[in-house]
Amino acid sequence: MSSQITVLVTGGAGYIGSHTAKALARAGYRVVVYDNLSRGHRWAVRWGPLEEGELLDTEHLRKVMVAERVGAVLHFAALIEVGESMKTPETFFRNNVSGSLSLLNAMRDAGVRRIVFSSTCALYGFPEKVPIAEDTPTAPLSPYGESKLMVERLLHWEGICHGLQWMALRYFNAAGADADGESGESHSPETHLIPSLLAAALGRRPACPIFGGDYPTPDGTCIRDYIHVTDLADAHVLALRHLQEGNPSTVLNLGTGDGFSVNQILAAAERIIGKPIPISRQGRRPGDPPRLVAAPQKAFEQLNWKPAHSSIENIIETAWKWSSHAHSPAASLSV
Ligand SMILES: NC(=O)c1ccc[n+]([C@@H]2O[C@H](COP(=O)([O-])OP(=O)(O)OC[C@H]3O[C@@H](n4cnc5c(N)ncnc54)[C@H](O)[C@@H]3O)[C@@H](O)[C@H]2O)c1
Repeated sequence: MSSQITVLVTGGAGYIGSHTAKALARAGYRVVVYDNLSRGHRWAVRWGPLEEGELLDTEHLRKVMVAERVGAVLHFAALIEVGESMKTPETFFRNNVSGSLSLLNAMRDAGVRRIVFSSTCALYGFPEKVPIAEDTPTAPLSPYGESKLMVERLLHWEGICHGLQWMALRYFNAAGADADGESGESHSPETHLIPSLLAAALGRRPACPIFGGDYPTPDGTCIRDYIHVTDLADAHVLALRHLQEGNPSTVLNLGTGDGFSVNQILAAAERIIGKPIPISRQGRRPGDPPRLVAAPQKAFEQLNWKPAHSSIENIIETAWKWSSHAHSPAASLSV
């Protein structure tokens, strides 16, 4: 099947979107990035033109889709910080839900009928059972998680009522950086564990906070499933092909199936960079489940995908190379 179609990558100036733009370009797709640069970076757009625009601007989206002859959308654009969503839920529902509705309206008007959506394991809340399969009941603990669940429902009904082909990919913890050092994680503020540890190691923050040491896990710290951003990017290319081949719309977990505790990540990071990392141990953070680990078999089978870059060593090594690079644009950002 020819893959020479144009893919609109919303949020392509962000962390996961930029890595996926690279994977798409390598797979022969033409990429157009659509991003308002509210959280993303111009430097991260390297694999296709940037159309600066706002998700809520339906008419702008429609015009770009028609002018660029867009054949499919990969939809990463969203506000992503859980704590921020607890402070301003209305902003999250407007940006993530109304923004996605605007995108779906533009797609319908422009005749674009395929979309891959960035969903999250945050919509499982405190899961009844771990590892977590896709049929686990959803119970988001934040407006962020709820906004993602609401978009999944929009996709479901858009599929039934208007024939949209869609795929919702529920990522676990995205981590790591491009092996060639061409992109990496650069959120501001940065709340994710690995970049926060590395920022502390580099003296860019006084210490990395570690939340909770009394969880019902072997060492008392939370357990998460870390998936390398390059593996996520590859899964998106496969998900798009899957839709192009006419397979049914569905929801897939993207994780490795292996869990690592915060203390294990800290120990691995100290081993890899060869020095102690300043940390500050704090109480539990509200809304943090003790253990979030994917049952990723459905994605393995349906996409014929297996994480190939997600060893903890590779995740930390690539993230370290990225964050310690003197010329990395991320180096000057606050954490
Ligand atoms: N990082 C993770 O671990 C993780 C885990 C699960 C799900 N996700 C989801 O993956 C997606 C990408 O996450 P990321 O870590 O790359 O985030 P990011 O903040 O680096 O990228 C998001 C991009 O979307 C853009 N954007 C936001 N609102 C927009 C709007 N209204 N119009 C146009 N552009 C807008 C931002 O400018 C930014 O470039 C998000 O949807 C997020 O919810 C991320």
